[in-house]
Amino acid sequence: MCEIAADDVVGFVMSTITSALNPCIGVIERYRAFLPVSETTPVISLNEGSTPLIPAPRLSSIVGRDCRVYLKFEGLNPTGSFKDRGMTVAVSKAVERGASLVVCASTGNTSASAAAYAARAGIQCAVLIPSGKIAMGKLAQAFVHGAVVIALEGNFDRCLSLIRELSTEPGIAVVNSINHDRLEGQKTAAFEIVDALGEAPDLHILPVGNAGNTAAYWKGYAEYLDSGHSTRLPRMLGFQAANAAPIYYDRVIEQPETVASAIRIGNPASWKLAKAAFNGSGGAVDIVTDGEIVSAQRWLASNEGLFVEPASAASVAGLLKCCSEKACAQCPLRLLPEGATIVCTLTGHGLKDVAAVMSDGPQPLFAAPSKTEILAILKKSK
Ligand code: F0G
Repeated sequence: MCEIAADDVVGFVMSTITSALNPCIGVIERYRAFLPVSETTPVISLNEGSTPLIPAPRLSSIVGRDCRVYLKFEGLNPTGSFKDRGMTVAVSKAVERGASLVVCASTGNTSASAAAYAARAGIQCAVLIPSGKIAMGKLAQAFVHGAVVIALEGNFDRCLSLIRELSTEPGIAVVNSINHDRLEGQKTAAFEIVDALGEAPDLHILPVGNAGNTAAYWKGYAEYLDSGHSTRLPRMLGFQAANAAPIYYDRVIEQPETVASAIRIGNPASWKLAKAAFNGSGGAVDIVTDGEIVSAQRWLASNEGLFVEPASAASVAGLLKCCSEKACAQCPLRLLPEGATIVCTLTGHGLKDVAAVMSDGPQPLFAAPSKTEILAILKKSK
């Protein structure tokens, strides 16, 4: 049995009331009691978090056995990805410690988020990105928020190792997930899921790149269990892109390659933490091909009405794989009871990477401005 401290109960009731009365608050205000902030920490927030947990009826019927699938749509954060949850904490703490410059390596979303929160804080931001390998929407975000954007030959892993070297310079704060303030903020997504469902799900599925988000969710679920907000932990199931799957293959991938540029990572920083989450939860890590990612992205958009970037579709591609004959022998889905609850995190918005869906050249159907012609086209496209 878990002991629940009176302070935790009061804190929880207060935070529930506060967020019910005022839904326009960010994750620090919503979950202050669980975060490494004090009364004197300056809160740099864009009202991130409180993203919708959307029921997915078509996915649920594919899974069958009365299971309910929900999609945690993190693309609705202020900069369009889950990174904002961690960035509000990392930038607030950086400002508290007197940093005048935040830096990060990024496949795109971290840089967009760091740039936005640095702008909000009125400090400088510099981002290291793999040259030519990040989606245009994310690059535009970093520029428009005023970051110094430095493109390097080489991949994300090379950018991150340079960031580690910069981390000892005075006045510089690293806001990659090697900074645990980021994971602290990101764990709030697990809190929100438990708050919405009234219990932890049976299975949580997410894409894996640098592996910080897996570690953060696992920490969040564990803390909510310890504080009595839930009575169980979910199985954690991660999906890596087939040619960028170091955790799955248990070796560094020197030249990771995938259409899902956000998770093109060969040597994840939170490798060990993520592995502990998969193993400790009775879950697993598996792979999905680029073809499976792209078709899951399109399936999700045309069947559930949600447009996500390719990396985000890896969680749904993974769930669809689990429901097919390609499921692996130890698939955690098979171990779930009837009526189980499954959550897939959709990490980033599809509008960030429009090229990914326009690359095969879809064109509008051109018509003369005439009702007859339009009706004729509609008839043909039925
Ligand atoms: N999905 C999206 C959209 C991402 O941007 C990332 C990571 C992931 C999934 C994987 O999450 O790294 O915590 O396992 N993007 C980082 C970046 C690496 O630089 O934006 P993870």
